[in-house]
This record gives sequence, C-alpha cells and structure tokens, in this order.
Amino acid sequence: MPDASKVNSMFARIASKYDLANRMLSFGIDRIWRNRLVEEVDVRNPETVVDLATGSGDVAFALRADLPDSTRIKALDFCAPMIEEAKRKQVALNEPRIEFGVGDILELPLDENSSDAITISFGYRNLEDRHKGLLEMMRVLKSDTGHLFILEFSQPHPLYRPFYYFYLKCVMPFFASLITRDLEAYKYLCSSIESFPDRAGITRELEDAGFRDVIAIPMALGSVALHIGRA
Ligand SMILES: C[S@@+](CC[C@H](N)C(=O)[O-])C[C@H]1O[C@@H](n2cnc3c(N)ncnc32)[C@H](O)[C@@H]1O
Repeated sequence: MPDASKVNSMFARIASKYDLANRMLSFGIDRIWRNRLVEEVDVRNPETVVDLATGSGDVAFALRADLPDSTRIKALDFCAPMIEEAKRKQVALNEPRIEFGVGDILELPLDENSSDAITISFGYRNLEDRHKGLLEMMRVLKSDTGHLFILEFSQPHPLYRPFYYFYLKCVMPFFASLITRDLEAYKYLCSSIESFPDRAGITRELEDAGFRDVIAIPMALGSVALHIGRA
C-alpha cells in the first residue's frame, strides 16, 4: 500500500500542473469517465454528497453542474495545495456552492450517518489503508440508503493489456515529465495501477467492509471501472 506522506507530497509537487497533465495524458477521455460517475449519483437523488480525494475538484464541479441547487456538496482532500487549486478554480468559475476543505479519508472530519453519497475518483488506489478508508466512508454514509461511488483504474481486458502497459510504462511517463517536470510521480502512477486489484478484487474489498449490492461498471476496455456499493 502507498505511503500516505509520500502521496501527499507528490500531489503537492504536481498540483499546479495536475489538470493539464490529466487532459493530455488521457486524451480528454477522463471527463467522460467522471460524467458517467455523476450520472450514477444523479439517478439516486442524494441531498448531501461528499467528494473525497477531490484534488482540483473536477468531480465536485461536475456534480454541482448536474445536481439540483438544493443538493449540498462538500469536497475534501488531504493535500492542501490541491485544495488551493480547487478553490482557485471555484473563484474562476464563479461557483461558490461547493464547500472545499482539507480532510483525510482515513479520519474524516464528518459526522456519522450524515451523507447520502460519497464519491471518490482516482483516489482510492492511493490510500495507505483501503479497508480503514472504506470503514470511514461506511461510518459517514447513511445506513441502508447511502451509496459509495469509486471511479478508479482497473485491470484491462487481456488482449488490450500489452498495449495499455506499453503506453503507461514507456509513452506516458515521457510526456508527463515534460508537462509536470516530475518523472517520479508518473512512475508511481504506473506502478500503483499495475499492482491494483481487478474489478472482482475491488468488489470483494467493498463487500468485506460491509457494502451491499456492489456492482462494477467497466469503461475504456476495462482499464477504468466505476464501483458502486450501498451502505
Ligand atoms: C489522482 S488525484 C484525483 C483527484 C480527483 N479526484 C480527480 O478525479 O481528478 C488523487 C487525490 O487523492 C488525494 N488523496 C490521496 N490519499 C488521500 C487521503 N488519505 N485522504 C484524502 N485525499 C487523499 C491526493 O491528495 C490527490 O489529490
């Protein structure tokens, strides 16, 4: 499992280049994945949503654009420079209706049984203790009705796997280091994806933490998945 303080300082280093790198390295497809996440949240009509590991806030902004005004949206990340980026975007977009703050998933500054939905996009893989993180999310979600949505990299279809890992190991770090000047961060990205469980493995993790009705929706030939579970 990744070391939390190393993860935090790595995101602090790349915070100001994070959005640009994301758009270029995923060829803009990352927006489609996040929009699918937002659609799945929307159909469940939550009154309160918390976006964890929000980073520069893309999921929080997409949720805000889609959900009714009455829905309360909070967004937390444990890396202060990432939250500063999100707040800068909030001013630029003139979107004051999201409450951004610093908060660690392993010790959430949120009341138990207080949220209808928790979203976490490309942050679950970075947790030092995923089981502890899931138990914290379970504590905060309203029991029986609350839903957890995890958007994360996954293991692609075997036929696509060699091409995918060639891109991740050989092509992507080169371009990422041109954009961010931080080769180490993108080597970490690759190794963390390679060692991450497949959809069945993450389904088991959610069920072991007590989530019910767990489903996994594959995207991008299985290289990304949306996992949904009920508290
Ligand atoms: C790859 S970024 C994803 C950002 C955003 N959700 C997105 O989809 O673009 C991962 C984020 O997870 C955050 N993170 C990692 N571990 C965390 C933890 N224990 N608590 C809160 N945030 C965490 C990092 O600071 C980073 O901003």
